[in-house]
Amino acid sequence: MSVHTHTDVKKITTHVLQEMKQRGEKIAMLTGYDYSMARILDEAGIDIILVGDSASNVMAGHETTLPITLNEMIYHAASVIRAINRALVVVDLPFGSYQGNSRSALDSSIRIMKEAGAHAVKLEGGREIRESIERILTAGIPVMGHLGLTPQSIYKFGTYSVRAKEEEEATILIEDAKILEEAGCFALVLEKIPAKLATQVAQEVKIPVIGIGAGGGVDGQVLVSHDMLGINNEFNPRFLRKYHNLHREMLNSFKSYIKDVRSKDFPNENEQY
Ligand code: KIV
Repeated sequence: MSVHTHTDVKKITTHVLQEMKQRGEKIAMLTGYDYSMARILDEAGIDIILVGDSASNVMAGHETTLPITLNEMIYHAASVIRAINRALVVVDLPFGSYQGNSRSALDSSIRIMKEAGAHAVKLEGGREIRESIERILTAGIPVMGHLGLTPQSIYKFGTYSVRAKEEEEATILIEDAKILEEAGCFALVLEKIPAKLATQVAQEVKIPVIGIGAGGGVDGQVLVSHDMLGINNEFNPRFLRKYHNLHREMLNSFKSYIKDVRSKDFPNENEQY
């Protein structure tokens, strides 16, 4: 494999994202957890790679995002950073690495920036993490917020269903979005909330709002790469557009290889020294 060379391209910064919102240009974000996938994402022109704690599900096979550790997130983030040339790389602070107090939030963020070379961190939550956001920002670390369905709180919600359908929760969400903006977040993810509400938030805050299952009225979209590639054929929420059926492709390739090995078709004369 050749070494990836870095050339002069216009890198995506938080400032560029802000300008994109002002111009009405949509922001494309996908998750990435490893070097090889991140190279392809960057080459494709993705604006933001999210090293999401969804790595806990799709890379490690855990049922929830809660078990993944800060060390594991740093490992994934460092692999992604080695691959990219243009994209902004945002890394999730994993469960337990920031909820304790703002000092632990800052320490965890510094480790992610220093050890992985990431560009920004993402935290789940609203007003309850305001102090942590402000403290992280004192170290010059850009912060992305995340409201709506926040998977780290799955045991509080009890289900992964659509959030903020009722007026009371919707009002709190709008207030929280404004609090996160005021606290200094450079962008905000809204997960699985009604499209109308997400559109309203995107109109009422100046920072870019990136949606997942939040409709088309926001400033950008994010999906889990493994989901949109159809690697996992058991996850089929309504908001997910599948661009491929990689599960089928990979399964067939692995089966063909097994057959070729067993039948002694592989390797042939041209595939040996
Ligand atoms: O971890 C993740 O992949 C995320 C996205 C779903 C936004 O937080």
